[in-house]
Amino acid sequence: MPDTSHFWMPFTANRQFKSKPRMLVAASGMYYYTDDDRQILDGTAGLWCVNAGHCHPKITEAIQRQAGAMDYAPAFQMGHPLAFEAASALAEIAPAGLNRVFFCNDGSEAVDSALKIALAYHRVRGDGLRHRLIGRERGYHGVGFGGISVGGIAGNRKHFGPALPAVDHLRHPLDIARNAFTRGLPQQGAELADELEQRLLALHDPATVAAVIVEPMQGSTGVILPPAGYLQKLRAICDKYGILL
Ligand SMILES: Cc1ncc(COP(=O)(O)O)c(C=O)c1O
Repeated sequence: MPDTSHFWMPFTANRQFKSKPRMLVAASGMYYYTDDDRQILDGTAGLWCVNAGHCHPKITEAIQRQAGAMDYAPAFQMGHPLAFEAASALAEIAPAGLNRVFFCNDGSEAVDSALKIALAYHRVRGDGLRHRLIGRERGYHGVGFGGISVGGIAGNRKHFGPALPAVDHLRHPLDIARNAFTRGLPQQGAELADELEQRLLALHDPATVAAVIVEPMQGSTGVILPPAGYLQKLRAICDKYGILL
């Protein structure tokens, strides 16, 4: 067993883990293998990032080949053909109109970059009054200051002061009393989207709001599905007032 004292593990009760470590040492397909030779079914595909299965031979071979050919190419003022190819491949499968790709290292950086892009978009169009961001209760948008500001998980926010200014939150759409045992999208609750217009935009004035950010399906405080029609309502309200969603 290695010395476990130096690695400060994220989102983990460190003392508890280190008193009885659970070590994964190998993986293949849908299984992990532990240091005491147990096979474990990986029901979450890593942290939702190994969706083709662990150690897929094609992916393993591509990583090995690239590491031997060129380990790193800067993206500032210089490029590498594969980055352009990857961006084109993404644009091809993305919905129509989503055809520009900005690569980031993780979800937290992607969220903070998206919030910055939203603010800069309005500013360079001469609409710099739009500085306000709206997230949602129980939302998870990563660990950057932008992400915890628009996110709605108290435990991820309480230690970090005011974080970003000018942020407000929609209510979350979890309504177990009305939507218990639903199959597919919950049928009750689309009207919760109306509070964007009736409460938040009425309070702040739509002309000050740059962007609304919500997970289509919230996944970090339980899996919370959007009520049928809820996201369409958010889209219609945002479009009506020139707010990015
Ligand atoms: C909706 C959402 N946004 C942002 C993040 C942050 O991603 P990362 O952990 O890669 O920083 C996550 C991670 O689970 C997420 O689910």
